Amino acid sequence: MKKDLLKLLDLTGEDIHEILDTADQMKFSQKHGIAHDHLKGKTLAMIFEKNSTRTRVSFEVGMYQLGGHALFLSGKESQIGRGEPVEDTARVLARYCDGIMIRTFAQAEVEELAQKASIPVINGLTDFAHPCQVLADLMTIREQMTRLEGLKLAFIGDGNNMANSLIVGGLKCGMDVSAACPEGYDPDPVVLDFAKTVTDCKFELVRTPAEAARDADVIITDVWASMGQEEERAVRAKAFAGYCVDEELMKLTHPGCMVQHCLPAHKGEEISAGVFEAHADEIFEEAENRLHAQKAVLYLLMKD
Ligand code: CP
Ligand code: NVA
Repeated sequence: MKKDLLKLLDLTGEDIHEILDTADQMKFSQKHGIAHDHLKGKTLAMIFEKNSTRTRVSFEVGMYQLGGHALFLSGKESQIGRGEPVEDTARVLARYCDGIMIRTFAQAEVEELAQKASIPVINGLTDFAHPCQVLADLMTIREQMTRLEGLKLAFIGDGNNMANSLIVGGLKCGMDVSAACPEGYDPDPVVLDFAKTVTDCKFELVRTPAEAARDADVIITDVWASMGQEEERAVRAKAFAGYCVDEELMKLTHPGCMVQHCLPAHKGEEISAGVFEAHADEIFEEAENRLHAQKAVLYLLMKD
């Protein structure tokens, strides 16, 4: 494993499996009351320049369960919001803390933070990537389907941070990945270039949800307007018409097909209320697995 978790492109398939295996152990220990305070006395700084429920709570609770401590720094209230350079923030935090989790806009900011900080940096979501979420998704799929290799993952929606990370994570774990995105909303070119280099499983970018959903083992969707794109909501609602994961679309999938959603969901937009409720157990297990997957990442990056 590298020093940081900035994006799944930086990880090998073996790294991802090591995280997932550790996450399974973390979950088992937590459920069975087995002590796992591997990060006793360690502190994680959590910088949030965007809203969060799951990421904040799961990292904070995760550090506590590992015997450590997490502290919340809001972009607005800390000096980051007043323009203190990232490189200075990195060097200061490295003198107090043992790790940094950051949620922000530009991937470049996270990469710079990691370069300047001597301690591990974890990406808690940027416009480009959401690696922690996709590790939890892969954990949930593997838990339910018992494997990842050979399964078909279909992503329906915006070529956003979730699409980028799912394409990379899915392909690195030997899944066939099909992404349905309207024209003009493609995944990042860096991700599409990576997908072209993969030879042992298939990737396709299609323009209709039906093409992607056909025979899928897992359907994944996400909001049409991500954080920071609120003003584009109306334009996006038009562009994504027909991209709802609904009962009709689910009929095309493989029997037993799972549904994952990183949440928060806009029911009636990217997913129908019926499909959401029919797959609520899988979706909330996915949310729970954020905790276990991130504890694995924290342990692997911050242990002595
Ligand atoms: N899925 C996710 O990252 O949720 P939050 O925005 O609530 O952290
Ligand atoms: N694509 C969404 C994911 C939220 C967890 C966003 O960036 O807002």
